[in-house]
Amino acid sequence: EKGGWSSFMRKEVAEQPEAVANTVRGRIADEQVVIPELEALGDEELRAVRRITIVACGTASYAGLVAKYAIEQWARVPVEVELSHEFRYREPVIEQDTLVLSISQSGETMDTLMAVKYAREMGAKTVSVCNTQGATIPRESDAVVYTHAGPEVAVASTKAFVAQITALYLFGLHLARVRGTLTDGQLAAQLHELQAVPEKLASVLEESEKVAQLAHWMADTRSVLFLGRHVGYPIALEGALKLKELAYIHAEGFAAGELKHGPIALIEPGQPVFVVVPSPRHPNSLHPKVVSNIQEIRARGARVIAIAEAGDAAVLPFADEVIRIPLAAPLFEPLLAVVPLQVFAMELAQAKGLDVDQPRNLAKSVTVE
Ligand code: F6R
Repeated sequence: EKGGWSSFMRKEVAEQPEAVANTVRGRIADEQVVIPELEALGDEELRAVRRITIVACGTASYAGLVAKYAIEQWARVPVEVELSHEFRYREPVIEQDTLVLSISQSGETMDTLMAVKYAREMGAKTVSVCNTQGATIPRESDAVVYTHAGPEVAVASTKAFVAQITALYLFGLHLARVRGTLTDGQLAAQLHELQAVPEKLASVLEESEKVAQLAHWMADTRSVLFLGRHVGYPIALEGALKLKELAYIHAEGFAAGELKHGPIALIEPGQPVFVVVPSPRHPNSLHPKVVSNIQEIRARGARVIAIAEAGDAAVLPFADEVIRIPLAAPLFEPLLAVVPLQVFAMELAQAKGLDVDQPRNLAKSVTVE
């Protein structure tokens, strides 16, 4: 039920702090990750994993791309992310020490289901991250880590996305413990970061009015670009997807480092570009590189909307608009930075008088090819 909300999407965007909190709840005890559903896969088996292949479609695949950075960093296992429909039609190399991790909100996406079945036939272990209790994909997998985002009704995925990243992070931290790649202290620090996300999400949502105004000013925009690096890159892809599906506006997401390899040719005066800016506070931060990317596009007339950490003053001289997110460790920034992009797409669609819950040509669950 929509309750007092004007759309399911608006309600689901607002429920994101809860979606993350519910996905974490009961899964952290004594500064350790506890995921009873994973017991079907013993520690021995997890230690034997040499490679993780993530299969998913759409927004779920972007959650997978975010998790790739975290799982490789924490558990030191190579992770690749592949769209399920590409994976299932190319005889991928899957061995017994490959873990195939599927991500699906509905648990019914046909291409992802077929990818999981193929992986099992090849002898791989399969784990699914799913939001729908008892759905087909988790039933076809060796183990499942459920996201507890609650039912997602709007076609465009929002709260399921942040819950997917949360579940994947819990999985990654569990794997790191089993494999001994993080110290207890490092593990505890990451878990604290994760536990702090719901409150930070609530404060990002408070910026929504500003984002809504921006969307209303931009209701006639015909094309929007999104840039990010590292974990900000999949967020740029997700921002572009949200805008396409909800507002029917041409949008593209790029890895900021890729600009001079082609996309910068698209920049002409007035072109709106959202840039996901990493925090400047960490050693090896990519912040200076992203700021120089901003300068490059600004010099060519781009209209820059920066999503940047509170207190980051370096972006101010170059950005036309700055949307602030709270301080977080680098791997946790995507959970926060995605929210203004969701709100922007939703508000722009609304400003154009479109149905945000049921965009044209799309279905909530794609159970056919
Ligand atoms: C985007 C969106 C789709 C789904 C994709 C996968 O907003 O909703 O891209 O993310 O169809 O669906 P699930 O997660 O159900 O497998």
